[in-house]
Amino acid sequence: MRLKCSLSALLLAAVAGTAGANEDPAVARTIDQVKMLDALYKTAVVLITEHYVENPSSISAATASKLLFAEMKKNGFHEARLIGLTDQLTNPEENRPTGNFEETAKEKLLSGDEYYTRVIKEGDKRYLYMATGVPVVMEKCVMCHANFKGKTGPIGALAYKVPVIE
Ligand code: HEC
Repeated sequence: MRLKCSLSALLLAAVAGTAGANEDPAVARTIDQVKMLDALYKTAVVLITEHYVENPSSISAATASKLLFAEMKKNGFHEARLIGLTDQLTNPEENRPTGNFEETAKEKLLSGDEYYTRVIKEGDKRYLYMATGVPVVMEKCVMCHANFKGKTGPIGALAYKVPVIE
């Protein structure tokens, strides 16, 4: 059951309400929603890589995810970005951390935090920015990313921007 193990290692603690008793309840429930989205996207990446990616010229789960993120953004649900946390990126132009939130998230995730959040007001709406780490969950990742070999911490992140559920 290698797949099952790698999946559970990938997911954040998924218990509803674990976002912290002292938080603003609206922010806490939005964090829980992002945990659900994060589990969904990461599970999809692992399953696509396991079942459909055969060799380095296959369409990667990263490429498929980015198409999915673009659709969700177009429909006004949320924004998500795949970013790289190593020095050697496949697509540095698009996947390098940019801006203060992503750069700070990189530092926090690399120093061991499970996730990093910020609430930002834009006009009269609040948005939750949340980044979660992406570890090397399976041997197949190294087929296309030789620099991931032997890495144990996060090598990438998913960075979300989601309207706070007020
Ligand atoms: C078939 C080859 C392939 C496999 C296997 C693969 N990737 Fe990728 N990965 C890519 C490509 C291509 C991109 C760039 C996609 C883009 O930005 O359009 C990418 C991008 C990434 C990025 C963003 C940073 C960067 O380098 O641009 C991360 C993080 C990442 N992959 C993690 C993983 C993980 C974790 C796995 C294993 C579950 C994995 N990849 C498996 C091809 C692959």
